[in-house]
Amino acid sequence: MIVLGIETSCDETAAALVERRPDGTGRILSDVVLSQTDAHAVFGGVVPEIAARAHVEMLDGVIARAMADAGLGFAGIDAVAATAGPGLIGGVLVGLVTGKAIALAAQKPLVAVNHLEGHALTARLTDHVAFPYLLLLVSGGHSQFVAVDGVGRYRRLGGTIDDALGEAFDKAAKLLGLGYPGGPQIERLAREGAAARFPLPRPLIGRPGADFSFSGLKTALRLAAEEIAPLSDRDVADLAASFQATVTEVVRDRAANAMRAFSSPVYGGGGPPKAVEGAGAMPTLVVAGGVAANQALRATLDDVARANGFRLVAPPLRLCSDNAVMIAWAGAERLVLGLHDGLATPARPRWPLESLRREEAA
Ligand code: KG4
Ligand code: ZN
Repeated sequence: MIVLGIETSCDETAAALVERRPDGTGRILSDVVLSQTDAHAVFGGVVPEIAARAHVEMLDGVIARAMADAGLGFAGIDAVAATAGPGLIGGVLVGLVTGKAIALAAQKPLVAVNHLEGHALTARLTDHVAFPYLLLLVSGGHSQFVAVDGVGRYRRLGGTIDDALGEAFDKAAKLLGLGYPGGPQIERLAREGAAARFPLPRPLIGRPGADFSFSGLKTALRLAAEEIAPLSDRDVADLAASFQATVTEVVRDRAANAMRAFSSPVYGGGGPPKAVEGAGAMPTLVVAGGVAANQALRATLDDVARANGFRLVAPPLRLCSDNAVMIAWAGAERLVLGLHDGLATPARPRWPLESLRREEAA
C-alpha cells in the first residue's frame, strides 16, 4: 500500500510517499520538506497569513517533486493522506483541500490525518514499536504524555498548564536575543555555557502527576538576564545552558511520574513498575515532536527511561520536526483498519488526540 502524505499545518510545506507492507513494516519512497523559516525569521515567529500564502505557492511543486522522486504518478498510489489539524487554519486548509482534489481526481480514498497522530505513530515506521507505548510529544505547540493504546486510541497522562516546551525554548531564545526557531540556538549555545551559573526555579518538580509548567521559568530567566544586562556572549551561553539544564531536569521528573502512571492502573499509585523479564517485555517510551531533536533532552530521557525499566525510542532527527512522511504513514495505518474520510471532512484548528477515540466509537 502506497500513500501520498501532505503536511501544511505550520511553517513547513511537505509531501512524501510511504509504502506500508502487509507485515506492518514501512518504507519511505520520497520525503520533500520545504521550510519557510527564512520568511518568518524577521518576525521572530510564524506569521499565519504568510505561512498560508507560502503553502499555496509551493505545495503543487512540493507534491510534484515527491511524486517524481518516487517515480510514481497518482495512478500508482492507494490513498491520499493530508493533515486536517490541529494547526494554523489557513495552512491546514491549503493542504487538506489539495489532498481532497487529488483524491477526487485520482479516485483514491482520502485520509484526514491528525498532525499529532502523525508524530505519535512515527516510531512504528522507524522502529516497529508495538502498542501500547508511552509517548512524550514535545513540539512548538504541544507538550504532553500520552498512552498510545492503538491507532486512534490515546489517553492523556499529562500536559502543559501554560507554554509548550518548544514555545518555552523559542521565548527563551527571543529574550536572549537569539533567532527563531530558538530550540536549536539554545542547544548550540548551551554546549559552551555553564549550566550551574544561574539556579532557576524547577516548576512542579517533586509534585505528583505528569503536567508541565514553563511560564514561571521564562520569567525567572528574563529577571536573571536583566540583572546582569548588558549580556556578553559568555552570559548568553551560560543563561542558555542554565535554561536547558533546568527544563531537562523538569522533564526527567515528569517522565518518571508518567512512566509510573503508564505502568499502574491507578494514577500516581503503584510505585515503580515491576522488574521486566527479557527485553521483549520492556515497556517503551517514545519521544516525538520538534523538541525531540534536542540531544541533551534525549540523553536525559534515555537515562530516566532506563532507571524506570523502560527503553527509549527516538525517531531520527529529520522525522522529529514536521514532515509529510509521518502523515503518509499515519494515513496508511488508518487505511489498513478501514478508516478513511469523506470529502466533506473539515479542517480543524484544534483537534486533541484523545478525541479520536470518541470519533471512532461514534
Ligand atoms: O514539531 P515541530 O517541528 O513543529 C510543531 O508542530 O510545533 O516543533 C518545532 C519546535 C520549535 O519550538 C523549536 O524551537 C523546537 O521544536 N526545537 C527544538 C530543537 N529543534 C527544534 N527545541 C529544543 N532543541 C532543539 N534542538
Ligand atoms: Zn509538529
